Amino acid sequence: MPHLIGTRIRLRAAEKTDIDSFINWINDPDVTENLMLVSPMSRIEEERWYENMLQRPPHEHVLVIDIKDRDHPGEWHAIGTCQFIQFDWRNRSAELGIMIGEKSFWNQGYGTESMLLLLEHGFNTLNLHRVWLQVYAKNKRGIRAYEKAGFFYEGKFRQAHFQHGQYYDVHLMSVLKDEWQNANSVNQQK
Ligand SMILES: CC(C)(COP(=O)(O)OP(=O)(O)OC[C@H]1O[C@@H](n2cnc3c(N)ncnc32)[C@H](O)[C@@H]1OP(=O)(O)O)[C@@H](O)C(=O)NCCC(=O)NCCS
Repeated sequence: MPHLIGTRIRLRAAEKTDIDSFINWINDPDVTENLMLVSPMSRIEEERWYENMLQRPPHEHVLVIDIKDRDHPGEWHAIGTCQFIQFDWRNRSAELGIMIGEKSFWNQGYGTESMLLLLEHGFNTLNLHRVWLQVYAKNKRGIRAYEKAGFFYEGKFRQAHFQHGQYYDVHLMSVLKDEWQNANSVNQQK
């Protein structure tokens, strides 16, 4: 699959050389606070995860989010990952996951832009009808970013996530192809 190119970012295949960054990101408690990862991850576990990931179909592979390097034109800098998981081909539905691991780049619109690019790929290339995700109710930044990317609140799994000695609700959000297309045509008219 070729790179997916956006305005400020690109999504590309993950390489073995990205593993150092992955290990840093998934062992940073600020980053994993709202991820479904509960234990520290060793290099060997991460390398095994990478090899297993490569055995899965290409459309389920993790994509690295690269941003244009501000100081070196033409160069790119990895800040996170995103991917589709849980494909349901009969119903043309898939779940989306995202992690901006470089937290100095949070709140700059990169998460929203990455999701919009992945949605474009999902709807216009993979021919999906529905993309959905799970997000902890306490993850206000994530929820806001998903709303900006066009996702709607669908409901919640009550007290489905246990962390810090307490239970949290898990929200379900989704966007349908029609909704995504309509939002895009409105944005283009602006
Ligand atoms: C969640 C995540 C993908 C969002 O990406 P991002 O690039 O930081 O998000 P964006 O800049 O596109 O949008 C963030 C929005 O949330 C808002 N926001 C930030 N903190 C907030 C808070 N505490 N309450 C409400 N809104 C908040 C920002 O102001 C921004 O909205 P705005 O553009 O209307 O001002 C990214 O922060 C991340 O990967 N975090 C760590 C891992 C994670 O939580 N992954 C998602 C698991 S479901």
